[in-house]
Amino acid sequence: MNFKSSENSYIIGHKNDSFLCRNGILHKIYTISGDDLVANVLVLHGPNLNLLGKREPDVYGIATLDELNRRLIELGTKLDLDVTCYQSNMEGDLINHLHFASEKFDYIILNPGAYTHYSYAIRDAIASIDIPVIEVHLSNIHAREAFRTTSVTAPVSQGQIVGFGLMSYELALISIQQKLNEATDV
Ligand code: DQA
Repeated sequence: MNFKSSENSYIIGHKNDSFLCRNGILHKIYTISGDDLVANVLVLHGPNLNLLGKREPDVYGIATLDELNRRLIELGTKLDLDVTCYQSNMEGDLINHLHFASEKFDYIILNPGAYTHYSYAIRDAIASIDIPVIEVHLSNIHAREAFRTTSVTAPVSQGQIVGFGLMSYELALISIQQKLNEATDV
């Protein structure tokens, strides 16, 4: 199956041998390393997060999205998690990725950006898929403007991690690894 998911991003292949092609670069998205099944995690960044580093650095910090993604992929390697990162400014594109991800990934870490506060379409997409979604925010949305204190996506997510900057995403990865360990310890 080859699936065009947006202007510059394609999912290519089958469940056990799939790649996300983004800007001409192939990212493997389903990995079996030795005998161990490595869990696949999709990190989805919503609108304006492509401007990290330049955008309101006093609120969101000075690290760029590429730096954040590199950190997550590195931490993922240490935790046996195969991390794929994708950013979109478009609601429909994020929804398509949530739909595709449910076939290819085991977990999603989602920062819906401002869509958090009002996108019932993204909320419904999360509720429609059967893999866990962890909502993350760099800033503490509960300590900012009143409109940011509402999340329509949190009630259908496994949990919400806010306010720790880049570490919000890292804590989400650690929680996934912990959950997987608990599941395999049983
Ligand atoms: C954000 C918080 C949102 O309110 C805002 O619209 C963003 C970033 C965060 O990560 O802190 O775009 O999701």
